[in-house]
Amino acid sequence: MNDLSKYNVNTPSEVTVWKDPVTVEPPLIVLPTDKFTMMDAAEYRAVVPNALSQECQELYSNVVGKSFVLNTPDFPDFTDAIEASIRNPNGWCYKKLEEKKSEFGGEGDIKATYLRITLGVNQGWSPGIPYVLEIWPAGHYSPIHNHAGANAIIRVLHGEIGVNLYSMLSIYHKQPFAQKILVKDDVTWISPGLNQIHQLKNINENGPTCMTIQCYLYNQSNRSHYEYFDYIDNEGTGIGHYYPDSDMEFPEFKALMRSEWLGNVRPKEWWR
Ligand SMILES: [Fe+2]
Repeated sequence: MNDLSKYNVNTPSEVTVWKDPVTVEPPLIVLPTDKFTMMDAAEYRAVVPNALSQECQELYSNVVGKSFVLNTPDFPDFTDAIEASIRNPNGWCYKKLEEKKSEFGGEGDIKATYLRITLGVNQGWSPGIPYVLEIWPAGHYSPIHNHAGANAIIRVLHGEIGVNLYSMLSIYHKQPFAQKILVKDDVTWISPGLNQIHQLKNINENGPTCMTIQCYLYNQSNRSHYEYFDYIDNEGTGIGHYYPDSDMEFPEFKALMRSEWLGNVRPKEWWR
């Protein structure tokens, strides 16, 4: 690359020129400026919010505040209530996950499921509703998928999540080029051209459940607004088109979890 001064492209397809270097991986972690250290800069292991696109900066500001949490004074047991609902066959979460077993193809694999609880309404600038609480029980995972060319910010609200990144969405390329484990309050980013194809998995096989907030925004210049997350199906032989839908809206979900918790819908042997 040091000697490269000119490169002729003879193709009718669109060519994109990146400002990012191609010799190092872009850091996955976003850190607030007052937490970004000299060693982070030296080892290229994090970025500050201002280094991201305008769209990512807006999303980041909305979800990283100290108050943007699940357990709040009005319901301090919210995450425990979700855990109980997942582990109890009478819980709404347990039953909804069962219902979704075949969502991404194949004969049905309970581990290939996660819950999507939506916040707000689709205002036309995101694939589906822009804010989604995603719930990942122990060992559960998403298919390998992309994000409709949108910007995204993901923050871990509870537990840990494993992220695998892929250079293309293809049934012939299932080996990730990068892997990272994100822990509580870690934030990562997706742009239309970088980190766009991933698989998420709660790698803790015995719990706890991981809960993340994902939020999405198309670039201002995006005029197509493709609405689907394309994914490799559970059998690994085809590409599907997933419309990012909602299992329940957040206020209703919170009320339901509270009612299950107070109604003692818990497993016989509580997990802790
Ligand atoms: Fe995703």
